[in-house]
Amino acid sequence: MAGEIWDYFDRLLADCELVIDRPKGSAHPRYPQFLYPLDYGYLAGTRGGDGEGIDVWLGSRGERVLDGLLLTVDLVERDAEVKLLVACTEAEMQIALDVSNAESLRGLLLPRSAPLNWLAQRRSIRRFQPEPVPRQVLERVLAAACWAPSAHDRQPWRFAVLHTAQARSLLTEAMAADFRRDLEADGLPVQEVELRIRRARQRVLQAPAAVIVCCDATTLDAYPDETRQAAEQIMAVQSVAMAGQNLLLAASAQGLGAVWMCAPLFAPQAVQQALSLPTSWQPQGLVLLGYPAEQPRPKLLRPETEITVYL
Ligand SMILES: Cc1cc2nc3c(=O)[nH]c(=O)nc-3n(C[C@H](O)[C@H](O)[C@H](O)COP(=O)(O)O)c2cc1C
Repeated sequence: MAGEIWDYFDRLLADCELVIDRPKGSAHPRYPQFLYPLDYGYLAGTRGGDGEGIDVWLGSRGERVLDGLLLTVDLVERDAEVKLLVACTEAEMQIALDVSNAESLRGLLLPRSAPLNWLAQRRSIRRFQPEPVPRQVLERVLAAACWAPSAHDRQPWRFAVLHTAQARSLLTEAMAADFRRDLEADGLPVQEVELRIRRARQRVLQAPAAVIVCCDATTLDAYPDETRQAAEQIMAVQSVAMAGQNLLLAASAQGLGAVWMCAPLFAPQAVQQALSLPTSWQPQGLVLLGYPAEQPRPKLLRPETEITVYL
Protein backbone atom coordinates (compact mmCIF):
# COMPACT_ATOMS: atom_id res chain seq x y z
CA MET A 1 0.00 0.00 0.00
CA ALA A 2 1.49 3.32 -1.07
CA GLY A 3 1.48 6.45 1.11
CA GLU A 4 3.38 7.85 4.03
CA ILE A 5 2.54 7.56 7.71
CA TRP A 6 0.40 10.72 7.68
CA ASP A 7 -1.77 9.21 4.90
CA TYR A 8 -2.23 6.06 6.96
CA PHE A 9 -3.34 8.06 9.99
CA ASP A 10 -5.70 10.03 7.70
CA ARG A 11 -7.29 6.76 6.60
CA LEU A 12 -7.75 5.64 10.18
CA LEU A 13 -9.31 8.99 11.05
CA ALA A 14 -11.64 8.82 8.04
CA ASP A 15 -12.74 5.24 8.75
CA CYS A 16 -13.33 5.38 12.49
CA GLU A 17 -15.93 7.11 14.60
CA LEU A 18 -14.46 9.94 16.72
CA VAL A 19 -15.92 9.76 20.23
CA ILE A 20 -15.43 12.79 22.49
CA ASP A 21 -16.07 11.40 25.96
CA ARG A 22 -14.14 14.14 27.83
CA PRO A 23 -15.30 17.51 26.48
CA LYS A 24 -13.29 20.68 27.01
CA GLY A 25 -13.69 21.87 30.63
CA SER A 26 -14.68 18.45 32.02
CA ALA A 27 -12.69 16.87 34.86
CA HIS A 28 -10.40 13.87 34.58
CA PRO A 29 -12.18 10.81 36.09
CA ARG A 30 -9.25 9.90 38.37
CA TYR A 31 -7.65 13.33 38.87
CA PRO A 32 -10.64 15.69 39.23
CA GLN A 33 -8.40 18.75 39.67
CA PHE A 34 -7.33 18.28 36.04
CA LEU A 35 -9.75 19.97 33.62
CA TYR A 36 -9.45 19.12 29.95
CA PRO A 37 -8.25 22.25 28.09
CA LEU A 38 -9.54 20.85 24.75
CA ASP A 39 -12.03 18.19 23.68
CA TYR A 40 -10.49 14.78 24.31
CA GLY A 41 -11.66 11.39 23.09
CA TYR A 42 -10.72 8.35 21.06
CA LEU A 43 -11.22 6.60 17.75
CA ALA A 44 -13.79 3.81 18.18
CA GLY A 45 -12.68 0.37 17.02
CA THR A 46 -8.94 1.11 17.31
CA ARG A 47 -6.29 0.09 19.81
CA GLY A 48 -3.59 2.43 21.14
CA GLY A 49 -0.58 1.92 23.38
CA ASP A 50 -2.74 1.52 26.50
CA GLY A 51 -4.91 -1.15 24.85
CA GLU A 52 -7.88 1.27 24.55
CA GLY A 53 -8.98 3.29 21.52
CA ILE A 54 -6.34 5.65 20.06
CA ASP A 55 -6.61 8.97 21.93
CA VAL A 56 -7.51 12.19 20.15
CA TRP A 57 -7.12 15.84 21.10
CA LEU A 58 -9.76 17.76 19.11
CA GLY A 59 -9.17 21.45 18.44
CA SER A 60 -11.30 24.27 17.10
CA ARG A 61 -10.27 24.42 13.41
CA GLY A 62 -13.50 22.82 12.28
CA GLU A 63 -12.19 20.48 9.57
CA ARG A 64 -11.52 16.92 10.69
CA VAL A 65 -7.87 16.97 9.68
CA LEU A 66 -4.86 15.45 11.38
CA ASP A 67 -2.53 18.32 12.34
CA GLY A 68 0.04 16.43 14.36
CA LEU A 69 0.92 13.57 16.62
CA LEU A 70 1.82 13.59 20.26
CA LEU A 71 4.11 10.86 21.55
CA THR A 72 3.80 10.27 25.29
CA VAL A 73 5.45 8.08 27.85
CA ASP A 74 4.05 7.59 31.36
CA LEU A 75 6.40 6.20 33.99
CA VAL A 76 3.55 5.41 36.44
CA GLU A 77 1.26 3.74 33.91
CA ARG A 78 4.39 2.25 32.28
CA ASP A 79 2.98 2.84 28.82
CA ALA A 80 3.77 4.83 25.70
CA GLU A 81 1.11 6.19 23.36
CA VAL A 82 0.55 8.06 20.13
CA LYS A 83 -2.25 10.63 20.40
CA LEU A 84 -3.81 12.30 17.37
CA LEU A 85 -4.08 16.09 17.23
CA VAL A 86 -7.11 16.73 15.07
CA ALA A 87 -8.26 20.17 13.87
CA CYS A 88 -5.74 21.84 16.18
CA THR A 89 -4.24 25.29 15.73
CA GLU A 90 -0.54 25.70 16.64
CA ALA A 91 -1.62 27.16 20.00
CA GLU A 92 -3.91 24.18 20.68
CA MET A 93 -1.12 21.75 19.81
CA GLN A 94 1.06 23.57 22.31
CA ILE A 95 -1.69 23.27 24.97
CA ALA A 96 -1.91 19.51 24.35
CA LEU A 97 1.87 19.29 24.61
CA ASP A 98 1.97 21.31 27.84
CA VAL A 99 -0.52 19.04 29.63
CA SER A 100 1.47 16.03 28.38
CA ASN A 101 4.55 17.25 30.22
CA ALA A 102 3.41 16.98 33.84
CA GLU A 103 3.87 14.59 36.74
CA SER A 104 4.94 11.16 35.44
CA LEU A 105 4.06 12.01 31.83
CA ARG A 106 6.37 13.35 29.11
CA GLY A 107 5.30 14.26 25.59
CA LEU A 108 6.88 15.06 22.26
CA LEU A 109 5.01 16.99 19.58
CA LEU A 110 5.34 16.03 15.91
CA PRO A 111 3.52 18.73 13.97
CA ARG A 112 2.48 17.75 10.45
CA SER A 113 3.76 20.97 8.88
CA ALA A 114 7.10 22.31 9.95
CA PRO A 115 6.54 25.28 12.27
CA LEU A 116 7.80 28.54 10.79
CA ASN A 117 7.78 30.85 13.79
CA TRP A 118 11.49 30.13 14.41
CA LEU A 119 12.22 32.36 11.41
CA ALA A 120 10.83 35.31 13.35
CA GLN A 121 13.39 34.68 16.11
CA ARG A 122 16.19 35.98 13.86
CA ARG A 123 16.67 39.68 14.38
CA SER A 124 19.55 42.05 13.77
CA ILE A 125 21.72 42.26 16.89
CA ARG A 126 24.27 45.05 17.10
CA ARG A 127 25.51 44.79 20.70
CA PHE A 128 27.40 41.76 21.90
CA GLN A 129 28.75 40.24 25.08
CA PRO A 130 32.57 40.24 25.10
CA GLU A 131 32.98 36.47 25.18
CA PRO A 132 34.48 35.02 22.00
CA VAL A 133 32.58 32.83 19.56
CA PRO A 134 34.21 29.37 19.54
CA ARG A 135 35.80 28.41 16.24
CA GLN A 136 33.59 25.26 15.96
CA VAL A 137 30.45 27.40 16.26
CA LEU A 138 31.68 29.71 13.48
CA GLU A 139 32.49 26.70 11.33
CA ARG A 140 28.99 25.24 11.82
CA VAL A 141 27.36 28.54 10.93
CA LEU A 142 29.46 28.92 7.77
CA ALA A 143 28.81 25.30 6.78
CA ALA A 144 25.07 25.99 7.08
CA ALA A 145 25.48 29.11 4.92
CA CYS A 146 26.83 26.91 2.11
CA TRP A 147 23.56 24.98 1.79
CA ALA A 148 22.04 28.02 0.07
CA PRO A 149 20.79 27.68 -3.49
CA SER A 150 22.96 29.31 -6.15
CA ALA A 151 22.67 30.09 -9.84
CA HIS A 152 24.08 27.17 -11.89
CA ASP A 153 24.95 25.66 -8.46
CA ARG A 154 28.16 27.69 -8.81
CA GLN A 155 28.33 28.41 -5.03
CA PRO A 156 29.98 31.82 -5.55
CA TRP A 157 30.13 32.73 -1.83
CA ARG A 158 33.48 33.23 -0.14
CA PHE A 159 34.02 34.09 3.51
CA ALA A 160 36.83 35.99 5.21
CA VAL A 161 36.49 35.25 8.93
CA LEU A 162 37.96 37.98 11.14
CA HIS A 163 38.20 36.29 14.48
CA THR A 164 41.08 38.33 15.85
CA ALA A 165 40.82 41.92 17.05
CA GLN A 166 43.84 42.71 14.88
CA ALA A 167 42.03 41.61 11.70
CA ARG A 168 38.94 43.63 12.62
CA SER A 169 41.13 46.64 13.33
CA LEU A 170 42.80 46.34 9.91
CA LEU A 171 39.34 46.26 8.33
CA THR A 172 37.99 49.32 10.14
CA GLU A 173 41.08 51.39 9.35
CA ALA A 174 40.79 50.46 5.68
CA MET A 175 37.08 51.25 5.44
CA ALA A 176 37.37 54.49 7.44
CA ALA A 177 39.30 56.28 4.69
CA ASP A 178 36.63 55.60 2.05
CA PHE A 179 33.84 56.38 4.55
CA ARG A 180 35.50 59.74 5.35
CA ARG A 181 35.81 60.56 1.64
CA ASP A 182 32.08 59.83 1.07
CA LEU A 183 30.88 61.78 4.13
CA GLU A 184 33.04 64.78 3.20
CA ALA A 185 31.66 64.66 -0.34
CA ASP A 186 28.17 64.81 1.24
CA GLY A 187 29.26 68.11 2.84
CA LEU A 188 28.99 66.93 6.46
CA PRO A 189 30.81 69.03 9.09
CA VAL A 190 34.19 67.62 10.17
CA GLN A 191 33.00 66.82 13.70
CA GLU A 192 30.00 64.89 12.41
CA VAL A 193 32.25 62.98 9.99
CA GLU A 194 34.63 62.00 12.78
CA LEU A 195 31.74 61.02 15.09
CA ARG A 196 30.23 58.70 12.48
CA ILE A 197 33.59 57.10 11.69
CA ARG A 198 34.25 56.55 15.40
CA ARG A 199 30.84 54.91 15.89
CA ALA A 200 31.25 52.64 12.86
CA ARG A 201 34.73 51.62 14.02
CA GLN A 202 33.55 50.89 17.58
CA ARG A 203 30.68 48.82 16.33
CA VAL A 204 32.99 46.51 14.39
CA LEU A 205 35.68 46.38 17.08
CA GLN A 206 33.27 45.45 19.88
CA ALA A 207 31.94 42.45 17.93
CA PRO A 208 33.72 39.22 18.96
CA ALA A 209 33.68 37.93 15.38
CA ALA A 210 33.09 39.27 11.91
CA VAL A 211 32.77 37.71 8.48
CA ILE A 212 33.22 39.50 5.18
CA VAL A 213 30.87 37.81 2.75
CA CYS A 214 32.22 37.96 -0.81
CA CYS A 215 31.14 36.97 -4.29
CA ASP A 216 33.86 35.26 -6.35
CA ALA A 217 33.77 36.79 -9.85
CA THR A 218 35.66 33.81 -11.32
CA THR A 219 32.54 31.64 -10.89
CA LEU A 220 30.47 33.73 -13.34
CA ASP A 221 29.74 32.65 -16.89
CA ALA A 222 30.99 35.07 -19.58
CA TYR A 223 28.51 36.51 -22.13
CA PRO A 224 29.18 38.64 -25.19
CA ASP A 225 26.35 41.07 -24.40
CA GLU A 226 25.98 43.47 -21.46
CA THR A 227 22.42 42.44 -20.61
CA ARG A 228 23.20 38.81 -19.96
CA GLN A 229 26.48 39.67 -18.24
CA ALA A 230 24.65 42.03 -15.88
CA ALA A 231 22.05 39.33 -15.15
CA GLU A 232 24.85 36.84 -14.47
CA GLN A 233 26.42 39.25 -11.97
CA ILE A 234 23.04 39.82 -10.28
CA MET A 235 22.43 36.06 -10.05
CA ALA A 236 25.78 35.55 -8.36
CA VAL A 237 25.11 38.36 -5.90
CA GLN A 238 21.61 37.00 -5.21
CA SER A 239 23.17 33.60 -4.50
CA VAL A 240 25.63 35.15 -2.07
CA ALA A 241 22.76 37.00 -0.36
CA MET A 242 20.98 33.68 0.10
CA ALA A 243 24.08 32.25 1.75
CA GLY A 244 24.13 35.40 3.89
CA GLN A 245 20.57 34.77 5.03
CA ASN A 246 21.42 31.13 5.81
CA LEU A 247 24.37 32.39 7.82
CA LEU A 248 22.15 34.77 9.84
CA LEU A 249 19.53 32.08 10.48
CA ALA A 250 22.15 29.50 11.45
CA ALA A 251 23.78 32.01 13.81
CA SER A 252 20.41 32.71 15.42
CA ALA A 253 19.73 28.96 15.76
CA GLN A 254 23.10 28.63 17.55
CA GLY A 255 22.11 31.32 20.06
CA LEU A 256 24.31 33.97 18.43
CA GLY A 257 23.30 37.49 17.57
CA ALA A 258 24.31 38.85 14.16
CA VAL A 259 23.81 41.78 11.84
CA TRP A 260 24.54 42.22 8.15
CA MET A 261 26.30 45.55 7.44
CA CYS A 262 26.71 47.02 4.00
CA ALA A 263 29.94 49.02 4.63
CA PRO A 264 32.33 46.81 2.56
CA LEU A 265 30.19 47.42 -0.52
CA PHE A 266 31.34 51.07 -0.44
CA ALA A 267 35.05 50.27 0.00
CA PRO A 268 35.64 47.00 -1.88
CA GLN A 269 39.24 47.59 -2.91
CA ALA A 270 40.28 48.89 0.51
CA VAL A 271 38.79 45.74 2.09
CA GLN A 272 40.50 43.42 -0.40
CA GLN A 273 43.87 45.09 0.06
CA ALA A 274 43.75 45.36 3.86
CA LEU A 275 42.84 41.69 4.26
CA SER A 276 44.93 40.45 1.30
CA LEU A 277 41.86 38.90 -0.35
CA PRO A 278 41.98 37.74 -3.98
CA THR A 279 40.91 40.53 -6.33
CA SER A 280 38.11 38.31 -7.67
CA TRP A 281 36.48 38.23 -4.21
CA GLN A 282 33.95 41.07 -4.41
CA PRO A 283 33.01 42.10 -0.83
CA GLN A 284 29.21 42.17 -0.45
CA GLY A 285 28.68 42.62 3.25
CA LEU A 286 30.08 42.37 6.72
CA VAL A 287 28.35 40.13 9.26
CA LEU A 288 29.08 40.91 12.91
CA LEU A 289 28.60 38.01 15.29
CA GLY A 290 28.61 37.41 19.01
CA TYR A 291 26.44 36.44 21.94
CA PRO A 292 23.63 39.03 22.17
CA ALA A 293 23.73 41.86 24.68
CA GLU A 294 20.50 43.51 23.55
CA GLN A 295 16.86 42.67 23.03
CA PRO A 296 15.63 43.93 19.64
CA ARG A 297 12.52 46.07 19.59
CA PRO A 298 9.34 44.36 18.31
CA LYS A 299 9.14 44.58 14.55
CA LEU A 300 6.12 45.59 12.48
CA LEU A 301 5.71 43.67 9.23
CA ARG A 302 4.11 45.25 6.19
CA PRO A 303 0.56 43.98 5.71
CA GLU A 304 0.16 41.00 3.40
CA THR A 305 -2.19 42.97 1.12
CA GLU A 306 0.60 45.48 0.42
CA ILE A 307 3.27 42.95 -0.48
CA THR A 308 1.47 40.05 -2.18
CA VAL A 309 -0.88 39.61 -5.09
CA TYR A 310 -2.60 36.31 -5.78
CA LEU A 311 -3.46 36.07 -9.47
C1 LIG B 1 21.50 44.34 2.52
C2 LIG B 1 21.42 44.77 3.96
C3 LIG B 1 22.24 45.77 4.42
C4 LIG B 1 22.22 46.16 5.77
N1 LIG B 1 23.10 47.08 6.23
C5 LIG B 1 23.11 47.44 7.52
C6 LIG B 1 24.09 48.35 8.03
O1 LIG B 1 24.95 48.80 7.31
N2 LIG B 1 24.04 48.68 9.35
C7 LIG B 1 23.11 48.14 10.19
O2 LIG B 1 23.10 48.48 11.38
N3 LIG B 1 22.17 47.25 9.75
C8 LIG B 1 22.16 46.87 8.45
N4 LIG B 1 21.24 45.95 8.00
C9 LIG B 1 20.28 45.36 8.92
C10 LIG B 1 18.89 46.00 8.73
O3 LIG B 1 18.89 47.30 9.28
C11 LIG B 1 17.84 45.11 9.45
O4 LIG B 1 17.82 43.85 8.83
C12 LIG B 1 16.45 45.72 9.37
O5 LIG B 1 16.39 46.93 10.13
C13 LIG B 1 15.36 44.78 9.89
O6 LIG B 1 15.61 44.37 11.22
P1 LIG B 1 15.76 42.81 11.60
O7 LIG B 1 16.99 42.29 10.89
O8 LIG B 1 15.95 42.78 13.10
O9 LIG B 1 14.56 42.07 11.16
C14 LIG B 1 21.28 45.56 6.65
C15 LIG B 1 20.44 44.55 6.17
C16 LIG B 1 20.51 44.15 4.85
C17 LIG B 1 19.60 43.02 4.37
